[in-house]
Amino acid sequence: MPFPYNRSDAEEWISLNQTADPNDMLNWAIEYEGTLVGTVGAVDLRGETNFGYWLSEQCWGRGFTSEAVCSALEYLFELKGMIALRSGVFKENVASQRILAKFGFQQIADTFAYSGARGAQKIPYLRVELTKRNYYLNRGSVLGTNDHCAF
Ligand SMILES: CC(C)(COP(=O)(O)OP(=O)(O)OC[C@H]1O[C@@H](n2cnc3c(N)ncnc32)[C@H](O)[C@@H]1OP(=O)(O)O)[C@@H](O)C(=O)NCCC(=O)NCCS
Repeated sequence: MPFPYNRSDAEEWISLNQTADPNDMLNWAIEYEGTLVGTVGAVDLRGETNFGYWLSEQCWGRGFTSEAVCSALEYLFELKGMIALRSGVFKENVASQRILAKFGFQQIADTFAYSGARGAQKIPYLRVELTKRNYYLNRGSVLGTNDHCAF
């Protein structure tokens, strides 16, 4: 994500999503009390698909991202027939690592990456993958604990 995140970044993101081919890219809005507070989605649906999300800081810690990720994964594997999704997370982002782990993503690389907020400094970063097999192996336990997961 760009940092700082300006109005023009948001406008560009909305415009991209309005014109994107849903066979290439699918992003959903996370909405709370009529306001867009985050997104979840996937890009490069016909290639090495990358899955990601973000949520406005005022809404952290209330299970919103878990709920959104649950619904998005269900759509991508169940309806879209995806075989595997890749994602990535900075090691210091414990909440995000927890989300990825509980849905069955597994580490495929332990590396470093640039963060928009950190400028020129590379910081520890994990690449992870969720295969269709692992999604379904894990799915029962996750759906059982999330009454709101739906699409
Ligand atoms: C990371 C982020 C998506 C989390 O969203 P959220 O809605 O607050 O997350 P949830 O409330 O759904 O769940 C977070 C999980 O992490 C756990 N968690 C939160 N903070 C934690 C911490 N400091 N240590 C350990 N676990 C933590 C929660 O208990 C929960 O796990 P549980 O369901 O087993 O109880 C959000 O903080 C964010 O958007 N951050 C900025 C952008 C970003 O990091 N994007 C993801 C890039 S990989």
